[in-house]
Amino acid sequence: MAKYNVFDCTMVELDRHHSDRKGNLTVVENGKTLPFDVKRVYYLYDVPGGENRGSHAHRDLSQLIVAASGSFRVTLDDGTCRRSFFLNRPYQGLLVKPGMWRDLEDFSSGAVCMVLASDEYNADDYIRDYSEFINFRNEE
Ligand code: TYD
Repeated sequence: MAKYNVFDCTMVELDRHHSDRKGNLTVVENGKTLPFDVKRVYYLYDVPGGENRGSHAHRDLSQLIVAASGSFRVTLDDGTCRRSFFLNRPYQGLLVKPGMWRDLEDFSSGAVCMVLASDEYNADDYIRDYSEFINFRNEE
């Protein structure tokens, strides 16, 4: 499969419907919003202050990461370059292409990190060891 780099990973502006005095609504629809169909949604919450999540890569999975509430930082690493994104808007998402090492940190109190994923959970898709990740990136 094609190897992507961190510059292929971008912030996506999601549809936002505003109702006066009644708040906002954001939609993600298969076939319209993202370059993949969503097969799984999961979310991280109650992350204690100072704790980090992530520290792994996925071989084939694509994801959209959204700060559904609060804020946190996502740092992506393609083995050559790193890019850091601060997520703090529920109508924006970070599109993470396959093959990116990611670290999530600086979670605000009450932050909810919602992830829309292109595939079902598969433990074999994870690379949890950084030197294995570098070998994976170099195998092209
Ligand atoms: P993990 O992906 O390692 O979380 P993080 O990168 O945020 O630290 O997942 C934590 C645990 O949850 C791990 O035991 C696997 C399990 N899990 C599932 O069972 N299904 C899923 O869809 C996900 C994302 C995780």
